[in-house]
Order: sequence, then C-alpha cells, then structure tokens
Amino acid sequence: MEISSSQMFRNLRKWSLSALTLVFLASSFNSLAQGEDLFKVKCATCHQVFKDGTGPKLYQVRQKWEEGGAAEGSIYLWVNNFEAAAAADPYAATVKEWSPTNMNKFPDLTKEQITSIFDWADSQVEDSGASAAGGSAVGETSTEDESSTGWIWVILGIVFATIIIAVGGVSRQLKSATSDGDYDADMSMADETKAWAWNNRKKVVVGIVILIMALVVTLFLSLYTIGTVENYQPSQPIEFPHSVHAGTNGIDCKYCHNTVTESKTASLPTVNVCMNCHKQVKGTTEEQAEQIAKIYEAAGFNPEGAGTYTGVTKPIVWNKVHVLPDHVYFNHSQHVEVGGIDCKQCHGDMTKMEGTAKVQPISELNKVEGNIQLTKTTLTMGWCIECHQEKEVSMGTLDSKKDGYYDEIHKRLRDHDQGLYEEYLEDGKVTVKELGGWECAKCHY
Ligand code: HEC
Ligand code: HEC
Ligand code: HEC
Ligand code: HEC
Ligand code: HEC
Ligand code: HEC
Repeated sequence: MEISSSQMFRNLRKWSLSALTLVFLASSFNSLAQGEDLFKVKCATCHQVFKDGTGPKLYQVRQKWEEGGAAEGSIYLWVNNFEAAAAADPYAATVKEWSPTNMNKFPDLTKEQITSIFDWADSQVEDSGASAAGGSAVGETSTEDESSTGWIWVILGIVFATIIIAVGGVSRQLKSATSDGDYDADMSMADETKAWAWNNRKKVVVGIVILIMALVVTLFLSLYTIGTVENYQPSQPIEFPHSVHAGTNGIDCKYCHNTVTESKTASLPTVNVCMNCHKQVKGTTEEQAEQIAKIYEAAGFNPEGAGTYTGVTKPIVWNKVHVLPDHVYFNHSQHVEVGGIDCKQCHGDMTKMEGTAKVQPISELNKVEGNIQLTKTTLTMGWCIECHQEKEVSMGTLDSKKDGYYDEIHKRLRDHDQGLYEEYLEDGKVTVKELGGWECAKCHY
C-alpha cells in the first residue's frame, strides 16, 4: 500500500487548508459578534445602523469620513474621545456640530474593538430587522435582536460533524486495510486520502487535536470577549457618587431603583427623582455644583432665584454597567425578594462606591462582609451556577416572615419524590440547584 509523497503532501495541504479556513471563518464571525455586542452595550442608546437618531447612522461611516477628508485614524480617536478628535482634525470638528447633544467618550475601547463595531454595522443589510437595535431609552432592552451569536454554534456543529465523519472514515479504512493488504490502483481520491490517513495516523491525530484546540480557543474567546466585564466602568454623563447618596445621606436603594423588589429589572431613576432634592441641594464645592448643573440642564431648570422650569428638557443617558446577553433571563425580584439576597452580594457595597457604578470583580465581592464566597468571574454563567449550587433556599425574607414558604417547598419536594428529597437533604440543605436552578431553560430564553 503506497501513495506517492507528492500526493500525500497534496492531501495534507488540502486538509490543513480547509481546517485553517474554518478556523479563520469562525474567528471572523467571532469578531462580528463582538462588534454587535459592543454596539448594543455602548452605542445603541444613541446610534442606529441605518437611521439617524440621537447620533448619526453608523452604516459605512468610515467610508464617509475618508471621503470627507478626515485625517488618518481620526475616527478611532473620535470614539475614544470626540473632543480630542475635534481639536486635532478639522473634519471631526465639523461632525461635532451635528447636534447639540454630545457623544460619550469611550477611552477604554481598543482600535480593534472599534473596528469590530464598524465591521458589524457595515455587514448589516437594510430591512433585515437587525437595524432595529438602538434608539431605546435607558432601562429598556430592544426585543428584536435575536441573531446574536447563535450561528457560531451552527458553524462549530458542522466542523465537529466533519471531524467525526473523517474519523469514522479512517476507522472503516482500518478494517478494509487489514482484510486485504493489496494496493488497489483504482482507488478513488477519497479512498486514497483515507488510506493515507491510516498510514499516517499519528500525524492525523495530531492534526485533529490541533484543530480541536484551535476551535476550543475560538469558542472560548467568543464566550469570554463580552463575558470579561469585571471592573467595567463606563463613563457616565454625570459623575454620580453612590457613596454620597446611599452612604452619607443614607438614601434607600429602592428610592431610586424602585422596581427592584417587584420586577425583573431594577430601573434607573428619572431626572425628576434627582430634582426632588437637587432643587434645593445645589452643591457645596465648585465641582459638585458643576455636576449638579447638568441635572438642571436635563430637567430644564433655571436655579437662579426661586428657580423656574424652562420647559426645554434633555434626557440623561446613563450607560448600562451590568449587561447580560439577550438570551439570558435574570430577575431581580426573584433574587432580592424571594431569595432574600442583599444587593451587595452581587454589586458590592454601593454605599462606599465613590465613583460611578462598576462591575465588581469577584475578588472584591468576596471581601464584602456577609457575602458567600464564590470563585467564578462576576456575571458569567459560571458565577450564576456556582451560587445556585452553594446557596440554600431557606434564607429568604419570605422565610423570615414565617409565612410557611420554606415549609411549602419542603413539602412539595417530599410529595414529589421522597427518595430524592432525602438525597437533597444529605448535606442538610436544599440548594437553588436542587430546585432546578441549573436547568438551562430557567436562565435561557
Ligand atoms: C450619548 C449618545 C452617544 C453614544 C452612547 C454614542 N454616540 Fe456616537 N455620536 C453621538 C452624537 C450626538 C454624534 C454626532 C456628533 C455630535 O453632534 O456631537 C455622534 C457621532 C458619531 C460618529 C460620527 C458619525 C458621522 O456621521 O460622522 C461616530 C463614528 C460615532 N458617533 C461612533 C460611536 C460609537 C462607535 C459608539 C459606541 C462605542 C458611539 N458613537 C456612542 C452620540 C453618541
Ligand atoms: C443560573 C443561570 C444559568 C443556567 C442554569 C444556564 N445558563 Fe447558560 N448562561 C448564563 C449566563 C448568565 C450566560 C452569559 C455569560 C456571559 O455573558 O459571559 C450564559 C451563557 C451561555 C452560553 C454562551 C452563549 C454566548 O453568549 O455566547 C451558552 C452556550 C449557554 N449559556 C448554554 C447553557 C446550557 C446548555 C445550559 C444548561 C446545561 C445553561 N446554559 C444553563 C446563565 C445560565
Ligand atoms: C439617589 C439615587 C440612587 C440611590 C439611592 C441608589 N442609586 Fe444606584 N444608581 C443611581 C444612578 C443615577 C445610577 C446610574 C449611574 C451609575 O451607573 O453610576 C445607578 C446605578 C446603579 C447600578 C449600576 C446599574 C447598571 O447600569 O448596571 C447599581 C448596581 C446600583 N446603582 C445599585 C445600587 C444599590 C445597591 C443602592 C443602595 C445601596 C443604590 N444603587 C442606591 C441612583 C441611585
Ligand atoms: C443575584 C445577584 C444580584 C442581586 C442580589 C442584585 N442584583 Fe442588580 N443586577 C444583577 C445582574 C445580573 C444585573 C444585570 C441584569 C441584566 O443585564 O439583565 C443587574 C442589574 C442591576 C441594575 C441595572 C438596571 C437593570 O435592572 O438592568 C441596577 C440598577 C441594579 N442591578 C440594582 C440592584 C439593587 C438596588 C439591588 C438590591 C436591592 C440588586 N441590584 C440586587 C444582579 C444582582
Ligand atoms: C434624597 C435626596 C437626593 C436625591 C434624590 C438625589 N441627590 Fe444628589 N445629592 C444629595 C445630597 C444631600 C448631596 C450632597 C451635597 C453636598 O454635599 O453639598 C448630593 C450630591 C450630589 C452630587 C455631587 C456629589 C459630589 O460629591 O461630587 C451629584 C453629582 C448628585 N448629587 C447627583 C444626583 C443625581 C444624578 C440624582 C438623581 C439620579 C441625585 N443626585 C438624587 C441628595 C440627593
Ligand atoms: C448570590 C447567589 C446568586 C447568584 C450570583 C445568582 N443567583 Fe439566581 N438564584 C439565587 C437564589 C437563592 C435563588 C432562589 C430564589 C427562590 O427561592 O426561588 C435563585 C433563583 C434563580 C432563578 C429561578 C430558579 C427557579 O428554580 O425558579 C433564576 C432563573 C435565576 N436565579 C437566574 C440567575 C442568573 C441568570 C444569574 C446570573 C446572572 C443568577 N441567577 C445569579 C441565587 C443566586
């Protein structure tokens, strides 16, 4: 059984080329997915792809800048810091005049990430529904963007199926190769490949392992590019300090995040809520006054004298700090009200937060007194799952109300399956996991 080495080489090249193409495809799709996620999190409050909103449409905006005579790289600087770009580049200065509203600054975005946003915008097709993302106010989530990253899974599925078929072919070849050892001159290309693969099984195995590793890395990146949000602290239109409000002045979280105990979302306060106090509280230091003046601008309030409303309002566009992908269902009231979990278990001690809100890394959360200790990165699936494994369902406000909620859970479990119930209680507690907190459908739409 012999195959010429040139043929062998040809086959090898074909194999590795197609493997490379697949990996390349997967990673370029991955970059588009990253672009889409970043767009939704950071830009969609003001921009749409095909329609002007608070900001101009972003479709083919790089081309527009190039044709308009913008300086090289100016558009990236614009996204990082529009003021710096406008100062450095006359074209950017004209863009700044587009509307009285200012863009936010995104100093933490890399050139690569910005490119991925533009690539994604340019890859959209008008009327496909994908352009619907955006224009939504703070707190709302757009409901029409289901495309997300689903197709990554489809591609990976196809790749793995290919590998499995290839491996299956090799093992079938093994059988026929051992039964008749003679080299058949009429062997088809596919048979040759299989025969060659069998003769070079070590190399083939190494190749497959490398391929799988490449795929795992790609997959890993796609899962974690948007997942690694620990320490994420977007710039905010007003330097709002939680420490002054929830700390020094002891304002209850629910005064501002008033839906947190009843609904899925926690909601952000409107400018009217701020005005309840800031009509009077004008700030002691100059810096405070400067920030508080922005509230007046938003409310259309002239603080001179007794204070008058001008009627010209301008919404405060807070950037979302904690963001889960669209396919995840998370409910605040379930955790805060039913589960009896304090805000600081997940958000850290906000009464000490001097800057604007940020996603606390798990290492910081673990330092907060009374928090149960977790190991997985905040806001990732591992984080949710780990707590559901550790956390007992008994310690809720409902339980402390002694209304029999906890007893009811035990009774239902016991009636459902006595054996299982005893198994659950082996470690002396019923955890969220044991109640179904690990079921995919509980968290995924
Ligand atoms: C708070 C609202 C807001 C957010 C958030 C925002 N932008 Fe803008 N953006 C604007 C406004 C407004 C303009 C128009 C310039 C002006 O009037 O100052 C603009 C202009 C632009 C332009 C120039 C458009 C053109 O037609 O020349 C680009 C590019 C751009 N934004 C990219 C982004 C990207 C990328 C993000 C997300 C990372 C983003 N913007 C987030 C408000 C916003
Ligand atoms: C307790 C809640 C919870 C459960 C149960 C859960 N997930 Fe997740 N899952 C999440 C969260 C939160 C994320 C987003 C993580 C991130 O953005 O890093 C996620 C992300 C994912 C992703 C990545 C998708 C993407 O954004 O690229 C997949 C795939 C996934 N989950 C599958 C599953 C499957 C399969 C199960 C059942 C075995 C499951 N999940 C059960 C919370 C959960
Ligand atoms: C006086 C009103 C006020 C009070 C009281 C208040 N907050 Fe906030 N909170 C805000 C505003 C405004 C924002 C948006 C600015 C920011 O992200 O820093 C915010 C943002 C947040 C965020 C980030 C939201 C996101 O986008 O993911 C969390 C988490 C949060 N608050 C938790 C708390 C907790 C916990 C308490 C009580 C200890 C509390 N807040 C008390 C006004 C308030
Ligand atoms: C079990 C963990 C957990 C607890 C406890 C928790 N949060 Fe959250 N919080 C989250 C997650 C996860 C998000 C992101 C939700 C999303 O993107 O859909 C979030 C988002 C928020 C937001 C942004 C607005 C929103 O609803 O998306 C605010 C404000 C907030 N939380 C305030 C609070 C306050 C106030 C408390 C306490 C009363 C609290 N949270 C308790 C996990 C938690
Ligand atoms: C219950 C009353 C109350 C509410 C509601 C309230 N504040 Fe304040 N705020 C205060 C007090 C008191 C101070 C401290 C002023 C001082 O030290 O002179 C303050 C200070 C501030 C400062 C300056 C802080 C600093 O030290 O830099 C900002 C900015 C601010 N508030 C923004 C807001 C915003 C935005 C809202 C609405 C989301 C809001 N506040 C709602 C009472 C309130
Ligand atoms: C600090 C611990 C903790 C974290 C972190 C946490 N959960 Fe939970 N979760 C709980 C507890 C406790 C309950 C049970 C509440 C009850 O008694 O029904 C629960 C219940 C749930 C339920 C309802 C389960 C059921 O059986 O009906 C869902 C869905 C859920 N969590 C989703 C999430 C998602 C998604 C995340 C991550 C973004 C998350 N949780 C993070 C503690 C946590």
